[in-house]
This record gives sequence, structure tokens and C-alpha cells, in this order.
Amino acid sequence: MFEQTYDRLRESVERALKDLCQACPSPQPLRDAMAYSLLAGGKRIRPVMLLSACEAFGGSIQEAMPFACALEMIHSYSLIHDDMPEMDDDSLRRGKPTNHTVFGQGMALLAGDGLLSWAFETMLAQAQGSQQRWEAMRTLARAAGVTGMVSGQCRDLAQRPQDGEAELYRLCAEKTGGLLAGAASAGAALAGADAAEQERMWRYGIALGVSFQIQDDLLDILGDPALLGKQTGMDKARGKMTYPALLGIDRARQVMEEQTRLALELLGERAPFLSELTRRLLQRDH
Ligand code: IPE
Ligand code: IPE
Ligand code: MG
Ligand code: MG
Ligand code: MG
Repeated sequence: MFEQTYDRLRESVERALKDLCQACPSPQPLRDAMAYSLLAGGKRIRPVMLLSACEAFGGSIQEAMPFACALEMIHSYSLIHDDMPEMDDDSLRRGKPTNHTVFGQGMALLAGDGLLSWAFETMLAQAQGSQQRWEAMRTLARAAGVTGMVSGQCRDLAQRPQDGEAELYRLCAEKTGGLLAGAASAGAALAGADAAEQERMWRYGIALGVSFQIQDDLLDILGDPALLGKQTGMDKARGKMTYPALLGIDRARQVMEEQTRLALELLGERAPFLSELTRRLLQRDH
């Protein structure tokens, strides 16, 4: 049942992203570079979360689809830039060579820029005259930008050896929690959930995001590159401050489980599919 729902939502996102790419008006090299990363697979967790949060609050999946696709564009842009030499300098992503290794650094930079603005263009095309859609768009801007993912990536880049656990929590809550909080909260906003419900969904996404990032950091140490589609051992090689590096593997696992428990508590009974997704993400191997 869970798998069927996940597959149904993921496949509808794949189709919608493909349609959007086909209709993309950019010149050829940019269009290819954007589609290369956007259509490279990935788990599609953020758009699936946005759609199912919207459904859980009584909204329509079809109307939420442009927002789900926009969020995946923002996520894909964040990965293109995250892999560049000035940031994590990685050569493999989603089982393929990273964007800049194929298209060059200039084009990869533009592919990220293009995906970010195209995301907002896609949402704006739907937002006129609707308070709910306007709120969802504002939520995703907050999730992506200077208080969300970009801020977290700044903390990641500017980290110092003396930083402690509180700074590490903020780093993970923003860089990874941002887009997951945006998914849950924008999905609820699109369905007309009130401000308190949207806020609770936001906090759910932050807790899930911290747990998700700790798992990502553990998989960088213990995971299988063939399953992950990216190289492992890179955090240690780059001297990154992560939960396992700071606290050790066992304590990192405990914090991950605590954050998942908190996420489940915040979600309550309102979205059984999201509860199951939250539990399953603890066991993921990619
Ligand atoms: C990778 O996100 C970046 C992190 C926030 C850890 P995902 O693990 O969701 O990557 P894809 O989208 O499935 O490739
Ligand atoms: C999350 O952190 C990246 C973003 C928020 C874009 P990582 O740098 O650990 O993600 P991976 O391991 O490269 O996917
Ligand atoms: Mg990074
Ligand atoms: Mg990285
Ligand atoms: Mg990582």
C-alpha cells in the first residue's frame, strides 16, 4: 500500500517534470544541462511529500503538481551547485557524472540559476488570484533562500573546527530541513490549512530534515556508492563537520532517532502516508 502510493506520486512527478522540460524555452546547451540533472532520477522525496501533505489536508494533487515540480527544480539546482569544485567538489550524482563535469562550470552555474528562476516562474503562472498558492510560494522562497537551504549551505561552507553541536543542528535544520519543511508546509498551505497547521508541518519538516541529513552523513561513511549513486567517504576527505564526525556513529544514530520521533509527534495522526515515509527514511540505504 505504502509502496503503491509512493510509486504513483513519484511517477506523476516524473511525467510532469518531463513535460515541463519538453516545453522549456531556453537555448540548447542550458536546456540540456538543466534537464540532465532534473531528469536524472533521485528519490523525489520533496515533491512526493508536498503532494501527500496537500492530499492529507484535503487538497488536490493535480493543482499542487506545479509546486511539487518547482520544489524538485530548486532541490536539483541545490545539488548542481553543491557538487561544484568551490563547494563539495563531487564527480558523481544520482549515478551519473556531476553537471559541471559534463557541461563545464559556467554552464552548471547557469543550469542552477535557470532551475531556480524557472521554479518561481512555474509557480507564478499558477499563483495569480489565489491566497493559498501565494502563501505556498512564499513558504518555498523561505525554505530555499536566505533563511533556509542557502543559509544552511553558507553555514556548511563557513564552518570552523570549534563549532559545536548547536551550530551543527542549525546547519542541518537549514540546509536540509529547509526544503523538507517547505514541502510539508507548502503542501498544507495549498490545501487551505490554517497558519498554526502550516507552522506545525514546517516544524515536522525541520525535524525530519535533521534526521535525514544525519542519515546522509552516516551513509557517506557506511553506505554503498552503487546504491547511493554518489561517492562515499567524501565528508571525511573534505574534513566536514557532521554528526558522526562530531559525536561518533552511535550517538549520531541516537540523535537521528530522536529527531524522527519528534517529527512523528509533530505530524500526529493527520497524514498516515507521511508518518510511514518518515519511519522508512530511518532505514534507507540510498
Ligand atoms: C541529497 O538529497 C541531499 C541532501 C539533502 C542530503 P536526496 O537524498 O533527497 O537526493 P536525491 O534527490 O534522492 O538524489
Ligand atoms: C546537503 O548536504 C546538500 C544540499 C543541501 C544541497 P550534502 O552535501 O551532504 O549532500 P550530498 O551528500 O552531496 O548529497
Ligand atoms: Mg554539501
Ligand atoms: Mg554534497
Ligand atoms: Mg552528504
